[in-house]
Amino acid sequence: MTDFQFTNFAPSPARGRVLVFDSGVGGLTVAEEIRALGPALGVHYAADSGFFPYGDKSDEALQERLPRVAKLLCDHVRPDVFVIACNTASTLALEDIRAVLDIPVVGTVPAIKPAAAFSETGTIGLLATPGTIRRAYTARLINEFAGDRRVIMHGSIELVRLAEAHARGDDVPIEAIAAAQAPLFEAPGGDQIDTVVLACTHFPLVRGQLIASAPHGVSYVDSGAAIARQTIRVLPPETEARGIGGSAYLTSPPEESPDLALVLRRYGFPDVHLVALDPIAMTSAPIAL
Ligand code: DGL
Repeated sequence: MTDFQFTNFAPSPARGRVLVFDSGVGGLTVAEEIRALGPALGVHYAADSGFFPYGDKSDEALQERLPRVAKLLCDHVRPDVFVIACNTASTLALEDIRAVLDIPVVGTVPAIKPAAAFSETGTIGLLATPGTIRRAYTARLINEFAGDRRVIMHGSIELVRLAEAHARGDDVPIEAIAAAQAPLFEAPGGDQIDTVVLACTHFPLVRGQLIASAPHGVSYVDSGAAIARQTIRVLPPETEARGIGGSAYLTSPPEESPDLALVLRRYGFPDVHLVALDPIAMTSAPIAL
């Protein structure tokens, strides 16, 4: 008989409503992990499509917008837990968002700790948005968990766009993925990287292409499974079942991005609604850095 090893994956019977939030479709990678671990949960999804991408916005613009968007979405969806499935937002505004919500909030922390522990060469890569790369929060994580490791960082909005395009069904050439991650491996010591932290929730969408286009064998780690476990851990006990399945919410009219609505449907969010943020829409133009 084949000796498969099914390691400690134990789905939880937890019930309740979870709202997973990102700028675009990256958080779908986290929503999938939450659904797999908590099949009786109602998992809803919100994308701040009116302000995508976050990774090239100024800290001030994001700090101003994120608590307001989070509050509006939660007032609308009434979740039991709010999951910020976005490194760029969490590393900047987790506390500001917590301050305006009265439910547990789970943030996304780059998986630097497991990557540092896993690496055999002692050199790890950190692939993220430019915003996440420059955060003090990220620097603190590196100091705390990878102080004895060499950490090579690269921030790429291009890779966010490629992952989003791939999810929307575009034919993204693997050469483009290779070029977007190449600076990691071309940096001094980059040939020693054996583990890369995918510190943007969009990037697991193209994990296969990243592996296939790396210059040598590299493991890519992300936080999705850990976020799912934490979501279930913080769900208040005795939370009522409020239906499985879920809807999706956008901050720009769904009819303006039919391909985005289609991705959401493909991922199991059949209804896509607009949550209008009119005053916020006024500030939605990208801010030059
Ligand atoms: N998915 C987001 C993250 O984890 C950011 C993508 C973006 O909007 O730039 O950082």
